Parts: sequence; structure tokens; C-alpha cells
Amino acid sequence: MIRKRKQICTISEFGILSINFVKIFMRKAFLAKFVNSICFLQNVTKMNNFSFQNPTKIIFGKGTIAQLSTEIPIDKRVMISFGGGSAKRNGIYEQVMDALKNHFIVEFWGIEANPEYETLLKAVSLAKEKNVNFLLAVGGGSVLDGTKFISQAMLYEGEPWDIVKNPALAKPSYPVAAVMTMPATGSEMNHRCVVSYRAKKEKLAFMSRHLFPIFSILDPEVAYSLPKKQLTNGIVDSFLHVMEQYMTYPANALLMDRWAEGILQTIIEVGPKVIANPSDYDLMSNYMLCATMALNEFISMGVPQDWATHRVGQELTALYELDHGQTLAILYPALLQVLRKEKHEKLLQYADRVWGIRKGSEEERVDAVIAKTEEFFKNVGMRTRFHEYGIGEEAVEAIAERVRMRGMAYGEHKSVTPDLVREIVKLAL
Ligand code: NZQ
Ligand code: ZN
Repeated sequence: MIRKRKQICTISEFGILSINFVKIFMRKAFLAKFVNSICFLQNVTKMNNFSFQNPTKIIFGKGTIAQLSTEIPIDKRVMISFGGGSAKRNGIYEQVMDALKNHFIVEFWGIEANPEYETLLKAVSLAKEKNVNFLLAVGGGSVLDGTKFISQAMLYEGEPWDIVKNPALAKPSYPVAAVMTMPATGSEMNHRCVVSYRAKKEKLAFMSRHLFPIFSILDPEVAYSLPKKQLTNGIVDSFLHVMEQYMTYPANALLMDRWAEGILQTIIEVGPKVIANPSDYDLMSNYMLCATMALNEFISMGVPQDWATHRVGQELTALYELDHGQTLAILYPALLQVLRKEKHEKLLQYADRVWGIRKGSEEERVDAVIAKTEEFFKNVGMRTRFHEYGIGEEAVEAIAERVRMRGMAYGEHKSVTPDLVREIVKLAL
């Protein structure tokens, strides 16, 4: 009986059991896949741990250069560093001198765009000779970066280029402050510094918490005299600073995304108008604030970062003497195209929230937003291809070789290898 029942049971239920087994197996496999993808998402979408501290005081607005007289203690021996002469032509020099008429002052002129190591060493000698103990930069990002470096090099015993290569060597040094005359780099409120060494065809960026200026004066009126080319450079640079911290992958950093999108939208709104009306106070003040907020570490809290365009862009400046902003506009649309799969989700978010692109398939929206980004660069007067600067196919190997030489891969996934750089450069020819 038992045997019979057993037999009946085996025969009649065999099919059902097998089907159920297959079903369970499939469900399990599906479940496993589902669980895996959740885990993957959890890894990808978790906000990164971070610590945040920005000690720079910002003094913003019309007529604020006068505050130098009280912001710099009267007993300080101040070296003021300048660029090539714009500060004398547009009246900023008089304002600074007037504010500091009761201070001890030494002037150092001639810090060039993409500040040159050998020039900065001359400034270091002068500062040491005059027993300077306070450094004031009056100029754009190059003058300020140069001045940050001077402050570090003044106390360094060895070859100061070591500090550029090894930022751990940076330490507390003489205070650096700025009158920022060009909205672009964000150097006025950050811990970054970029120095060039033309004899070695090198341009390197480094970071240290000892590089924050103690204060920066931002008077939008001082930027009225900027030539169109420099305004264009600055707009593209500040736009890219936001993108380097935003255009990666979703990291569950909802506030950071919206801050970044807010800065992008504001630059898109006011950028072309600033180019058309460079002496409109309202436009310039909004744009100036965007440039500072784009790279003062506020929008980087807890998010993955890219920076491949900046790293490769530095090689372009070192090789072809292109301005920093120009390098970014050439590389970025091509980089987005090459990395469109990696950046897929954020590209769709950027398309929707920043440019209002909501129609079409996902791939069509991605195409549209990359085209929009390049069009924006063109609208503010920027060229976006190598050939427009007379640079041809030789750039492909030359740039890939520079990246290979560094022995590094860039980007949020470290996927920007020399091979990928080759693809990007080819696409940007
Ligand atoms: O040298 P002067 O005569 O002052 O003329 C300058 C220079 O020729 C002129 N200029 C500046 N303010 C002006 C003005 N002309 C008229 N009116 C004014 N108010 O503009 C020219 C370019 O100046 P520069 O300082 O070179 O430009 P920018 O501020 O774009 O700085 C570029 C440098 O900063 C680095 C770049 O790599 C490059 O070396 N960066 C620094 C960063 C940082 N510290 O955080 C980040 C950036 O990504 C960038 O890499
Ligand atoms: Zn930049």
C-alpha cells in the first residue's frame, strides 16, 4: 500500500515537481540577480564619507578692495604679486596701493598665465631678501596659484619643484590673500595650485590644506576690463569644474546634485550675457559667485569625482600652449561621447534637469545633451576642435603618450587610460 501510494505519488507528481523545481530555480536565479543588482546599486549609490573645512573668508562686492587696509595687519611686511600689467591699466593697482598706503610693501610683477616655476623662484628670492611675511596676489588664477606656491617655496629647504610633485611636503607658511580679478579657477577659495615648468614641458596641479587663502576680495567691477577671450575661458572653466564633480554616476548625493545643477543653470543663463555686457554689475556678480562656488569644495561633499578632462587638458597646455579653458572645451564633448555608457544615468539627469531635454529615446537624449554642451561652449565664443587651433592627427599619439608616461588612469572609474585618451583625442580632431 505504502509502496503503491509512493509509486502513484512519484509518477503523477513527477512532472509537477520538476516544473516547480525549474520555477523555484528560475525564481532563485532571478532573485539572486535582483539581490546582486541591489547590492551593486548600494555600492554605487552610497554617498562617500567626507570631511569638509574651508577656512577662506570671502569679501564680496563693490568697493571692497579698500578693506585691505584693515584685513592685513599693519605690522605685516607685504609682497604684492601681479601678472603682466592688466592691474595697472584698469585701475586696480591704484585701489590696492591706496588701501595699503600705510603698510610696508614690495611689488613683484610678471607672473604669467600658467605661472612659470622659474619666475616664481625669482619672487621667492625677492620675498626672502625683503623679509616678507604676508603675500597678496592681485590678479587671476595664475597670479594667485603662483603666490600660493611662493609662500610654500619660501620655507622649503630643497628644490621647491619637489612640493609640486609631492604635496605632502606643503606645510603652514606665510599667509596668502587675494584680490581676484578674473572669475574662473576658484583658486580664491580653494586649496589647489597649478604650476608650469616650461623647460621640462610640465604643468602639474597639486592640493594641500595649507594652500587656502586666508581671505579673498571679489569685487565684480574689477572683472569689467577682462578681454572677451578671458571671459570665455573663465566661463568654460567654471562650467567644467562643476561637471567634473557632478557628471559621474548617481551617488545618492541629492543636495550636491541640485547645488551643482543650480550653478550650471546660472552659468548657462548669465554666461552669454556677461560676454555681451561685461560691465553689467548684476550679471558679473552672479557669474563671479558661480566661479567661486564651482570649485571651493562645497559641491564635492560625498560625491565621486572625474577630473580626467582637467588632467589631460594640462598636457595640452604643456604641449601646445593652449589656455586652460580652451583645452577643456576641446576635450569635454568628446570625453562625454566616449564615456556615454559609464555616465549614462547622470547624462540623462543632466539632460532633463539642466537643459530640459525630455523627448526621445535615452540614446537620443544623451546625443542631444552632448551636442547642447558643445553648442554652449561655442555660444560663449569658444572653439571646440583641435583643427581650429591648427593641431592635427599628431596630437593623438603625443597626448596618449603623455598620459601613458604618467602611469595613471583618470576618471571616477579610473577608466581613462592612454587607449581611451587616444579615442577622445581622435573624436575631438
Ligand atoms: O597677467 P595680466 O596682465 O594680469 O593679465 C591676465 C592674463 O593675461 C588677464 N587678466 C586677469 N584679470 C584681468 C585680466 N585682464 C584684464 N582685466 C582683468 N581684470 O587674464 C589673463 C589670464 O589670466 P590667468 O590668471 O592666467 O587666468 P585664469 O584665472 O584662468 O588662471 C589660469 C590658471 O589657473 C589654473 C590653470 O591651469 C592656469 O594655470 N587653474 C587653477 C585652479 C585652481 N587653483 O583651483 C583650477 C583650475 O582648474 C585651473 O587649472
Ligand atoms: Zn579648471
